[in-house]
Amino acid sequence: MNDPKTPQYSPLRTHLGRTVLITGAGQGIGAALAAGFLARGAAVGLLDIAPAHLSLRAAELNKAGARLAAAVADVADHAAVTQAVGRLSETLGATFDVVVCNAGISPKHEGRGVTMQDMDPAEWTRVVDVNLNGTFNVVHATVPQMIATGYGRIITIASVAGRTYFRHVGAHYAASKAAVIGFTKHLAGELGPHGITVNALAPGRIVTPLIHSVSQEVNDQVAAATPLGRLGEPEEVAEVALFLTSDAARFVTGQVIDVAGGWLMT
Ligand SMILES: NC(=O)c1ccc[n+]([C@@H]2O[C@H](COP(=O)([O-])OP(=O)(O)OC[C@H]3O[C@@H](n4cnc5c(N)ncnc54)[C@H](O)[C@@H]3O)[C@@H](O)[C@H]2O)c1
Repeated sequence: MNDPKTPQYSPLRTHLGRTVLITGAGQGIGAALAAGFLARGAAVGLLDIAPAHLSLRAAELNKAGARLAAAVADVADHAAVTQAVGRLSETLGATFDVVVCNAGISPKHEGRGVTMQDMDPAEWTRVVDVNLNGTFNVVHATVPQMIATGYGRIITIASVAGRTYFRHVGAHYAASKAAVIGFTKHLAGELGPHGITVNALAPGRIVTPLIHSVSQEVNDQVAAATPLGRLGEPEEVAEVALFLTSDAARFVTGQVIDVAGGWLMT
């Protein structure tokens, strides 16, 4: 069914039979990703640090026939991630062949990113731990099975802030997302020979709970500076991830795709 050479090949149905892990799936972009993959027939493992987000989302998505499992874990904790991936695989009865490393944080202080001089070193470390090390931990826990099956699709969620100066976030966030892009490209090289593609999405400002901590004034400024004249919706990020993990994009790897309404054009 998923071999592009077979007559049954259909880009629109290519998530049927796939098993997908989504981190930070409890709300925002992760929740839209979960809904999108489920709607295309995939089995989905939801991972999130917040039990309340997770149970709410699982209850909402758990329609009759949906193949869904949920696990609480902090992506920054390698052992916890490995255990959660094992539990989710066991519940779903399959190893993960699609992974979306979406969990991320962007701390704000009174609606704005803190300056580097005022940054608490502990905040720097936590942001790098979640956004960068968390991405490593999730990929590290899932890649061996992809290599064993000779197939895999990995999506990392970076940010336009990892590609250029974006004054509304902190230096820790920008640095962690730039590193995620480097990690993505390196992995695409390493894992290509195993039939695994690795691509990054770089969202602009997307309307999720993450940006509720940002002042309305700042969000209005970003919308005004965006050629499409508005902020993005989580589903608009999810749709690009669905394409990149479908057989239609089987020759695309090592790319960073901005989903930013034209805010950045390089
Ligand atoms: N919203 C935006 O404007 C925007 C822009 C660019 C990039 N991004 C990136 O997109 C991703 C999703 O962002 P969002 O806007 O949906 O955020 P969000 O805050 O709305 O949701 C993030 C989810 O991740 C979970 N999470 C946080 N830390 C975690 C951890 N350590 N382990 C496991 N789960 C954790 C949270 O509980 C939450 O459910 C992040 O990586 C973010 O940096 C978002």
